[in-house]
Amino acid sequence: MNQKVLVTGATRGIGREITKQLCALDFSVFATGRDRQLLDRLKKETGCQGAACDLSDAESVISLYTQAGEGLGSIDVLINNAGFNPGKRPVVEVDAAQLDASYAVNFRAPYLLCREALKEMGQRGRGHILNVVSTIARTSAPNYSAYCSLKYALHGFTLCLIKEARQVGVKVTGVYPGGTDTDFRAEERPDYLKPESAAQMIVQCINAPDDVVVHELVYRPMVESNF
Ligand SMILES: NC(=O)c1ccc[n+]([C@@H]2O[C@H](COP(=O)([O-])OP(=O)(O)OC[C@H]3O[C@@H](n4cnc5c(N)ncnc54)[C@H](OP(=O)(O)O)[C@@H]3O)[C@@H](O)[C@H]2O)c1
Repeated sequence: MNQKVLVTGATRGIGREITKQLCALDFSVFATGRDRQLLDRLKKETGCQGAACDLSDAESVISLYTQAGEGLGSIDVLINNAGFNPGKRPVVEVDAAQLDASYAVNFRAPYLLCREALKEMGQRGRGHILNVVSTIARTSAPNYSAYCSLKYALHGFTLCLIKEARQVGVKVTGVYPGGTDTDFRAEERPDYLKPESAAQMIVQCINAPDDVVVHELVYRPMVESNF
């Protein structure tokens, strides 16, 4: 079946690679990010649909789900991949605006998209939601308190969602990649996962047999030992 997928954070890094790999496998993809130029390039390269959206605005998040549903016909798979790393900052230097920004993108946006997806997928009795969390939500790190806390929130929400969604036939997967060499951080990390590899794990999970639900997908580069 030609599955229809909404991917957030598709203009760069892991999300861009997910989009490329799914399109190559004949999935229909609606991609989103803020950068219009990068989005246009991705559409040309892959044939995906897409629209720019700033996920820090709650109303735009809801409109995005509607727009993607209209573009694709319906949404079989939602991949909440977009995330935002505000950079390293000790607790004593984090202000309310930085905390709010992290909350809006790393937690509220995926929460609202899951809510919209669950309403619709639940009625159909099928669908798959994947929330890209991080191995940071299995450990902790100094100077990453805002990012780490909101990823923990997304982890907790995903565990609740797994239980609610299964009652209406919807699969939910928490995805916990380790360090990946993307634009996410200022410095290059060739010792980390390639974004193609991080994406491939997610694509394999979407392609799992129908009778399998992967609740947690945890993977790391060999250099990472935060377990
Ligand atoms: N890289 C890592 O080491 C690592 C490790 C574990 C988990 N993760 C998680 O994996 C996911 C993907 O990360 P990545 O490494 O691929 O990051 P990335 O290269 O920085 O890409 C982030 C994506 O999110 C989008 N995004 C950020 N803020 C947004 C906003 N306000 N509205 C809409 N889109 C927004 C960006 O789009 P625009 O730039 O177009 O706005 C971009 O497409 C994130 O959830 C991240 O937390 C990453």
